[in-house]
Amino acid sequence: MEELLKELVENNRKYAANGKVANYIPELDKADKNALGIFVTTLDGQEYCAGDYNTKFTIQSISKIISLMLAILDNGEEYVFSKVGMEPSGDPFNSIRKLETSSRKKPYNPMINAGAIAVASMIKGKNERDRFSRLLDFTKMITEDNNLDVNYKIYCGEAETGFRNFSMAYFLKGEGIIEGNVEEALSVYFKQCSIEGTAQTISKLAKFLANDGVLSNGERIITTRMAKIVKTLMVTCGMYDNSGEFAVKVGIPSKSGVGGGICSVVPGKMGIGVYGPALDIKGNSLAGGHLLAELSEKLSLNIF
Ligand code: DON
Repeated sequence: MEELLKELVENNRKYAANGKVANYIPELDKADKNALGIFVTTLDGQEYCAGDYNTKFTIQSISKIISLMLAILDNGEEYVFSKVGMEPSGDPFNSIRKLETSSRKKPYNPMINAGAIAVASMIKGKNERDRFSRLLDFTKMITEDNNLDVNYKIYCGEAETGFRNFSMAYFLKGEGIIEGNVEEALSVYFKQCSIEGTAQTISKLAKFLANDGVLSNGERIITTRMAKIVKTLMVTCGMYDNSGEFAVKVGIPSKSGVGGGICSVVPGKMGIGVYGPALDIKGNSLAGGHLLAELSEKLSLNIF
């Protein structure tokens, strides 16, 4: 297996040349454009890795699946989806336009920024610190990694440059979608995006979902129904306006982030974490997508 992963990393690294490292947040552009790595954790605990699997990066939008789970645990499915939809938007992750023009009156789904900011506002806690520390503790628990923390340089960059996110959040407050304090919701959102990990961290998160929301020690953290919701939204919305093509070419429920990570869940089998910071125009890891397509083909991982 490790030989195969090595070969796939080397086969697919070339695609990074056609991508671009995200630079709209200061610090993200420091990543090595040609980096590519993969970490695989099987449900019976085997681990395999290759390439730049140990390089640190911020999980960015991959955090949206984590906050969704905690928001549902805190508020219940009915409340969460009364405020955020379950439909692919067909628009870029930071798009603002359908917020007002759609008859839906709520963000299309929890994977686009507007939906994720609304979800962040639902995390319970006494204050912003408490809400985020609950989210970080939850992340540590389900990734089984106690060393996770926020990259504060990136967090500051997010907060200083996230004007579209501010606009959307205030709009959502005006519409009654965000009920609490807007700035607190944004701060939780910016911090969750700035949690730093490696392909291994992302692979553990994927393994938790592949194992239907059960930790390695057998403890169930979320219901089967909740795990199903998250995996389904990963298929339909996890790769933004490239989710359809990704489902056809790779066929594995996945969530990307602009830090270059992709979290891929092979139900009942394994969790895959990929890192490749050169992105395509939709904001997804370019070489990472190619690597997953080849791995899916070679190991027959397509769920369809
Ligand atoms: O909201 C933002 O701009 C980012 N911090 C997160 C976006 C992200 O990762 C989109 N994914 N591809």
